[in-house]
Amino acid sequence: MKFQESVFNIIRKRSSCRKYQNVPIKKQTLRILEHAIKKPLKGLFNTEIKYKLVKLPDEIPDSNKLTYRMVRGAKMFLVGVIPQATPETVIDYGYTFEQVILKATELDLGTCWLGQTFRNDYLAKVIELKNDEIIPAISPVGYPTNTTGIRDSIISLAIRSKRRKSWKHFFFQKDFFHTLSREAAGKFSETLEMVRWAPSSRNSQLWRIIKDEKMFHFYIETTEKITPTKFPKLKLLDIGIALCHFDLCVQEQNIKGSWQKIAEKENEKSHLKRYIISWIEK
Ligand SMILES: Cc1cc2nc3c(=O)[nH]c(=O)nc-3n(C[C@H](O)[C@H](O)[C@H](O)COP(=O)(O)O)c2cc1C
Repeated sequence: MKFQESVFNIIRKRSSCRKYQNVPIKKQTLRILEHAIKKPLKGLFNTEIKYKLVKLPDEIPDSNKLTYRMVRGAKMFLVGVIPQATPETVIDYGYTFEQVILKATELDLGTCWLGQTFRNDYLAKVIELKNDEIIPAISPVGYPTNTTGIRDSIISLAIRSKRRKSWKHFFFQKDFFHTLSREAAGKFSETLEMVRWAPSSRNSQLWRIIKDEKMFHFYIETTEKITPTKFPKLKLLDIGIALCHFDLCVQEQNIKGSWQKIAEKENEKSHLKRYIISWIEK
């Protein structure tokens, strides 16, 4: 995904929008967004995911019904489909859909990740889902209302959405016993700050990162097991988003590196942490 603006600015600019103006998206803006999602986007685990802009059909006059009254006024939604639900395809959905969300943000459109509060049955018909295909999450897209609705305020308050935990909860050095200071993060300090600002379901912020020399190891804090058939979908979407922020920021800073699964990390036994993937500087 190509951005005209700095991704650091776009990440800072994004926040969840649950109330939209009854105004269609400008043609030129729509064209740019459609162009950005014309080709499937590829995740770190090589899943190719096609995204679509879906206009609500006439029988669903507004987004209220589709989103269990969570989103008001939206007429258009961004929707993607994965061929089959596995931990890797879901992480890749998080990684690629966040790029689409950030592109919409760059275009001054409001968005909101919805991983729970949407009616899959309505969308399945519109998208014509096949076999094992699933829609892990969607987002409304449109012009935000100028005022924060009472609904947004209540939700924001309930999930403390404008807040993020401090550095010491997320970033570690060598192992989970030593926290990583901003100074020790050096040239990665701003990139990690952008990971800290990643959105997450219920604002749970469960990603954890260990810096070990030139390597960054990404984990999810959870007691839930991750197996090919059983896994916490929302937490995997969240880590995909964190990986996206990290990747886009190091690319913008022109810091070269690559993603790898490290076998010995995968074999680590931990009650609370699940290893996902590592980034290694070249
Ligand atoms: C994977 C994922 C799923 C989410 N699902 C929902 C949802 O179903 N309903 C909702 O109102 N918000 C949902 N959110 C939005 C989060 O509550 C929001 O991103 C978080 O509180 C941080 O606030 P911010 O996006 O304004 O920074 C979801 C976010 C993520 C990343």
